[in-house]
Amino acid sequence: MGVGYQGMSELMQMPVTRLFPSPQRDFPLEGLYLDHDLYSKGHTGKPFVYSNFITSLDGRIAIASEARATHVVPTATTNPRDWRLYQELAGQADLLVTSGRYFRQSLLGEAQDELPLGSRQAFDDIREWRSARGLAQQPDIAIMSSSLKIPLATLDPYRARRIYVVTGEEADPGRVATLQDNGIVVIRAGSGIKVNGRRMLDELARHGYRSIYAIAGPAVFHTLLQSRIVDRLYLTITQQILGGDSYDTLSRGELLEPARGMRLIGLCHDPHAPIDAGQLLAIFEPHNHTTGSRASPAPQDIP
Ligand SMILES: NC(=O)c1ccc[n+]([C@@H]2O[C@H](COP(=O)([O-])OP(=O)(O)OC[C@H]3O[C@@H](n4cnc5c(N)ncnc54)[C@H](OP(=O)(O)O)[C@@H]3O)[C@@H](O)[C@H]2O)c1
Repeated sequence: MGVGYQGMSELMQMPVTRLFPSPQRDFPLEGLYLDHDLYSKGHTGKPFVYSNFITSLDGRIAIASEARATHVVPTATTNPRDWRLYQELAGQADLLVTSGRYFRQSLLGEAQDELPLGSRQAFDDIREWRSARGLAQQPDIAIMSSSLKIPLATLDPYRARRIYVVTGEEADPGRVATLQDNGIVVIRAGSGIKVNGRRMLDELARHGYRSIYAIAGPAVFHTLLQSRIVDRLYLTITQQILGGDSYDTLSRGELLEPARGMRLIGLCHDPHAPIDAGQLLAIFEPHNHTTGSRASPAPQDIP
């Protein structure tokens, strides 16, 4: 990565340009999202729920790959600048929501990376940010799953964190017992085997969580949208068109009716990655999130 750059640290120091809200202005990439202090937006009893995706212009968040059994995030779109922002968002969470799929992918060696926060030195400042606010070293983990096919060994790297599995009331009792026998707290939050987003959120609020970062894929995001519990979406749009005919987009599930309108609250342009393309860093909130008619954010509200 980085033709024309002397190295990774130089690449990471290149600024992004805020396009919205006006006035247009350059900002350092590092700290761009950490400044949003999402932990302080949640309250006991009402956690702040946010999600994040990286997508191509033609809407691909994951594609089929010949050598892999599962869909994977396209290597064309992944880049260290977006990855840094992903880590900054995780740094502000006291809980991550992921899926059974992630752990099955990780058993196959096909998961994108370890669950955040990443252990790299480059993220030391994010760890410091957490400890300055009294947050645990790492966010806890909630795994959404109907099948409960979660390979136990893949949880071992995360045993220092609290791990929950969230499932429906009719989930397989034998699998529930196995998880519980292995120290996992199982939360039932839905009739049948599917999780209802609102019920899950109420349960997680009862456990005291304040900032919940959904890092799973389209089925989990759809579940959260359906229950109208998403407070904010961070969307990196790489200026690339990938094509292909087997891919995932942001959301998968029955039609959302009415369509969930999203209000743009921030937009930056990052011309430095992916190379030969660039990316837009967009931030959305549900349209009816506050009063439904709030004016555009003031420049000081969002960097
Ligand atoms: N580009 C990006 O930013 C980005 C972000 C995230 C993911 N991805 C990629 O997207 C691809 C596709 O992910 P995916 O199709 O596997 O979707 P997903 O939504 O991440 O995971 C689907 C799994 O989540 C569980 N689940 C979802 N909704 C549920 C509900 N309401 N109740 C109970 N369980 C529920 C189920 O687990 P069980 O099967 O265990 O029941 C289901 O199989 C992956 O390759 C991933 O790497 C890309």
